[in-house]
Amino acid sequence: MFRKLFKGFRNFMMIDTHIHLDDKSYFDDLEEVINRADEHGVKGALIPGADPKDLPRAVEICEKYDHIFFAIGVHPYHVEDFDIEYLKSFATHPKCIAVGECGLDYYRLSDSEEAKVEEKKIQKKVFIAQIKLAIELNKPLIIHIRDASQDSKELLIEHDAKKVGGVLHCYNASDILLQLDTHGFYFGIGGVLTFKNAKKLVEVLPKIPLQKILLETDGPYLTPHPYRGKRNEPAYVSLVLSKISELLNIDEDKLETIINKNTNTLFKEFEKEIY
Ligand code: NI
Repeated sequence: MFRKLFKGFRNFMMIDTHIHLDDKSYFDDLEEVINRADEHGVKGALIPGADPKDLPRAVEICEKYDHIFFAIGVHPYHVEDFDIEYLKSFATHPKCIAVGECGLDYYRLSDSEEAKVEEKKIQKKVFIAQIKLAIELNKPLIIHIRDASQDSKELLIEHDAKKVGGVLHCYNASDILLQLDTHGFYFGIGGVLTFKNAKKLVEVLPKIPLQKILLETDGPYLTPHPYRGKRNEPAYVSLVLSKISELLNIDEDKLETIINKNTNTLFKEFEKEIY
């Protein structure tokens, strides 16, 4: 079923711009995961930083595979472990091409109002520090935004994130975030688009300029339909491409060419490795 479904994608050159290959769920079969991606036309991958203790593993993977790159960053759920000197110690590695995933996530805040205020404050502080780091290193940002569109937009504008630009990795894409298009940001589209209840993203998608769309899986999470509930992996990025093509009524190969160009504009290093 899997192979049949993906037949015809072999000549594609898709890039999964957000895949946590350093996650423990890939420890046992990483080689197979990467081979499967390759067979299905997914030729490159970017591992975002989330939990700082996984960074050495990301580096190890990138040193083994030419077409895989990493970013340094701390996810809003790991703000307690933020250490800028530690992140900087990985910044000069030739495979480090971005800063993130950093941002704001108000989905899991505490119930008490007092704690909420404090948690938001810490998240904002760590986000700002990473925006500044990206500008200092001149690397694009990978930005995680959940239930915090307005605050995120304000911080990105206030701290001049457009100097480096980046990709908004957002599973609640909103009209507020769309306004960031003019600030040099791209929009990562992933498996959520294929969910039966993905009404909001389906509605927002046609408003995103085609020149600003990137592909991502966010594996091991958010696996596209019909594999929802199973571990996500880069090969499934092709299901996302198909869904975008269906919703926007654009040929898959045409769309793939446009998205590749977008990816190479933001993350120039892929072009040298893959094409
Ligand atoms: Ni992620």
